[in-house]
Amino acid sequence: MLEERKNRLQQLKKSKNAIIIAHNYQLPEVQEVADVIGDSLALSRTAAQSDAQTIVFCGVHFMAETAAILCPDKQVLIPDSDAGCSLASSVNTAEVKSWKAKHPNAIVVSYVNTSAEVKALSDYCCTSSNAVKIVNSIPSEREILFLPDMFLGSYVAKMTNRKNMYIWPGECHVHAGIKPDDINIMLKKYRHADFLVHPECGCTSTALYHTSTGELEKSAHILSTDGMMKHVTTSSAKQFVIATETGILNRMKKQNPDKQFIPIKKDAICRYMKLINLEKLENSLLNNVYQVKVPSNIASKAKDAITRMLSIG
Ligand code: 13P
Ligand code: SF4
Repeated sequence: MLEERKNRLQQLKKSKNAIIIAHNYQLPEVQEVADVIGDSLALSRTAAQSDAQTIVFCGVHFMAETAAILCPDKQVLIPDSDAGCSLASSVNTAEVKSWKAKHPNAIVVSYVNTSAEVKALSDYCCTSSNAVKIVNSIPSEREILFLPDMFLGSYVAKMTNRKNMYIWPGECHVHAGIKPDDINIMLKKYRHADFLVHPECGCTSTALYHTSTGELEKSAHILSTDGMMKHVTTSSAKQFVIATETGILNRMKKQNPDKQFIPIKKDAICRYMKLINLEKLENSLLNNVYQVKVPSNIASKAKDAITRMLSIG
């Protein structure tokens, strides 16, 4: 039954000249049929470079929107239209406009976890893997409005030593739920493990603090989801405590069967990411649903912010 569905998916993909791309948090069976798995930045790049006519985006809405902005001539589909993101919903265009009005000369840097409309009001887009680089590329005398994630923003301000950066108080409900105490408890249990922490986590500053005091023997690594994948493959460590959504652990275990992966919080699960399954994926390809389209006036402005980011790294 499952194999039959997978075969049908392969045939559909071929007949429609489609590519399936999936985020690192997707269900194992979805990752299994994907052509490419990755983080937000890698998936945006894949979408932009692909020759396929249809991109089926197994992730959340802002990611599919980014693909639609970068590939206006392609059909971009998301298998479940309810796959949103609590972080992207934590800021709207009216709020950004009034924030900008209070800081008319500031540069707006938006995390990729934002709507196309918010990106269109931004100067730069950034992801968890390049946020420090993007902020460092902005002249130090310019004020920055960073949105919408406060934990990522605080981490970037610390790493860049930026004092003129204002941070929007938004958060992702999954990562904000990973608290300083979660890291403190795990630190006592797994003293010799590598600690990999996504910068959206509520425990990011605590991880940095423990690194600075030497409490974390091998130090914490603040990484995007693809950064984590690379780290676990290349590190000589055998044990890793993972502070992010638990979906990534399946991929880590599969690619590194001789290593041990411990989720810092077993219930760090993004319900939006888990909405997509093989049945919905097949329905998506078969019936061309749900099409993700961005009005051209919004898309062209949002594209400028994304392109500026891609040109920096
Ligand atoms: P990455 O870009 O690191 O994959 O993060 C995306 C995301 O939504 C994290 O919750
Ligand atoms: Fe959004 Fe958080 Fe889910 Fe990532 S884990 S998609 S930031 S709600």
